[in-house]
Amino acid sequence: MELHFTIDTERCIQCGACIDDCPFHIIEMAPDFPALIPSRVHHCIRCQHCLAVCPTGALSIAGRRPEDSLPLPESLPSAGQMTALIRGRRSMRRFLPDPVPAETINRMLATVANAPTGKNNRQCLFTVIDDPATMEVVRRETLEGLRRAVAEKRLGEGLGYFRHVVTAWDQGRDIIFRRAPHLLMVSVPPSVTTPDADALIAMSYFELLAATIGIGTLWNAMIRWAWSTIDVDMYRRLNIPADHYKGYALLFGRPAVHYHRTVQRDEAQINRVRLA
Ligand SMILES: Cc1cc2nc3c(=O)[nH]c(=O)nc-3n(C[C@H](O)[C@H](O)[C@H](O)COP(=O)(O)O)c2cc1C
Repeated sequence: MELHFTIDTERCIQCGACIDDCPFHIIEMAPDFPALIPSRVHHCIRCQHCLAVCPTGALSIAGRRPEDSLPLPESLPSAGQMTALIRGRRSMRRFLPDPVPAETINRMLATVANAPTGKNNRQCLFTVIDDPATMEVVRRETLEGLRRAVAEKRLGEGLGYFRHVVTAWDQGRDIIFRRAPHLLMVSVPPSVTTPDADALIAMSYFELLAATIGIGTLWNAMIRWAWSTIDVDMYRRLNIPADHYKGYALLFGRPAVHYHRTVQRDEAQINRVRLA
């Protein structure tokens, strides 16, 4: 595996930070400057901690240059801003029909691709419906599939609720898709170590990032239950590989409602343990 590990010897202060922070101990001081340990290179998971921890920006790896990274900590939001974001994001169930520009969605997905994944696998597949006309097809086919499942009494245990969904649809209310213009689904190959967590983390980061730029989101378990119940094979229609772990759907779009304050539910259930 070619790692393109280079040290700018003018900048390197031989502090050893890259050596200390490498989770797989693949770097050594050799003897004046850091270098890869050839027998351990295959352990590298390309986490780039060595690049990130170098105080002088002397280290490049995997073709990445330190000057192309965001500088820290000055780029981070404050604790107060993060608190407001976590407490202030809301499930959005009323959307404007206007699509979010494709370049905005692409930028968001590029950022979310930085979310952590087990062993830095980074195998998340982001299936996004950025075209409202496609969203309309998906909505219609899902509802028609549910209608058939209701008529043919094929609803599984605990899914009787879908009868109500179909009735509401016939009355002009979409209580599954909420008429959202977009949908995101993260799927992950089963070969990775932590597919479920990788998908959930990526979606969570997308949700929070969306809230910072005025895009509303709705986590959606109903869509997942519907697609695993009905006979339209929506995952195949959306080109999601059959063997992938499929996460929840996340609806998103410009909000048609604005919340002026947070809700109040600060009661955390804490199990604080002391063994000494
Ligand atoms: C995994 C998950 C699945 C959800 N599925 C649905 C859903 O199918 N339909 C829906 O309207 N809301 C769904 N929600 C939204 C929750 O009902 C919502 O998060 C909760 O009521 C709290 O409201 P808030 O998100 O505005 O704080 C889901 C939330 C999560 C985390």
